[in-house]
Amino acid sequence: MLLVMTIIIACLSSCVSYKPKYKGEWERKQAEDNTYYTVYLLGDAGNSILGETNLVFDHLKKELDSESDRSAIVWLGDNIYPVGLAPNNSVYHREGRYKLQAQLNTMSNFKGKKYFVPGNHDWYTFGRIGLRRQEMLVDSFLRHTPNYSKQDNFFLPDKGCGDPQVVELAEGIKLLLMDSHWFLNENARTGDQSVCDVKTPEEFLKKLNTEIAENSENTLIVASHHPPYTYAHHGGKFPLKSDIFPLTQRFNWLYLPLPAAGFIFNRMRLRLSEQDVYHPTYQLYRNNLIQNLEAHGRSIVASGHEHTLQFIENDNQYYVVSGSASKSNKVGMGKGSRFSTGEKGYAKIVFKNKKKATLQFIVPGQFIEHDNIAYEREITF
Ligand SMILES: [Fe+2]
Repeated sequence: MLLVMTIIIACLSSCVSYKPKYKGEWERKQAEDNTYYTVYLLGDAGNSILGETNLVFDHLKKELDSESDRSAIVWLGDNIYPVGLAPNNSVYHREGRYKLQAQLNTMSNFKGKKYFVPGNHDWYTFGRIGLRRQEMLVDSFLRHTPNYSKQDNFFLPDKGCGDPQVVELAEGIKLLLMDSHWFLNENARTGDQSVCDVKTPEEFLKKLNTEIAENSENTLIVASHHPPYTYAHHGGKFPLKSDIFPLTQRFNWLYLPLPAAGFIFNRMRLRLSEQDVYHPTYQLYRNNLIQNLEAHGRSIVASGHEHTLQFIENDNQYYVVSGSASKSNKVGMGKGSRFSTGEKGYAKIVFKNKKKATLQFIVPGQFIEHDNIAYEREITF
């Protein structure tokens, strides 16, 4: 009886799958020639497997090769799974380097601007030293390969700081970058912060609020790793399997049925792990971000972290989750959801002008009749 009840409750609370889900109808629009600026958004791209072809990166490279200098790409963190960039003498170094290099190679002919922000996995095991190792590799590689955009700094924020900061993409379109893991994780904030603009979570929020307020005349794309809204496991939507067989979350093969324990554990972890939306520190981060954006009109909030593609409209903002560049997870729909899928892919914003754009979610290898576009929407600011 307990098992049946748990299954029913879990089903009601989850309903997650890899399949694409839509709220309402959508139709593929004819591509127009008058593009003002194009922005690619990809997260959780750091899991390329040595010797395997990567459909997403192959497709992306073709698109990037044909772009003009009026374009940009933002890698939304978790650039190297599972433990950032290990030191040269570690057995994990070669694999980590390969995973990062696979991303860098997609941009070999790309003329646009290139940005990386960190995710939680980029901090794991080797902390700030591992993150800085990644930053230096990204910056030095991209400075010394054809650097069409004449950019100097590609990995932001610098030096393992959290520092919210704004860069200009085009006249009227700005990009706000920050390290959300620095805010969420106490360990990331320990040690010498003297090189950082913001040294405490309070200063982080103050700087974030100032940057949003000062750029309210522009169309703003906020890019960081952790999403304010998500309807997969970081947002409390668990697959039935992880409720009934909770130990499979740790060991793929361990199908020991513990439905009641699994259900309780999964709901508790939401408040215990700072990587999940309901944790108090996460709530502080996302509530502050939402409130400040709401006060200054409509923006795009782009994140990774959850290995899914999602488009969510809440608080008069556009929320884009693009975290399935190299990994995939089951996902559901929730408040404000317009589209979600657990398939691998990325998001693309094609601006017609600084106040109007088409947002696309691209799933290479699928939706062939729609040029691999799983969903698209016109968005205005
Ligand atoms: Fe993550």
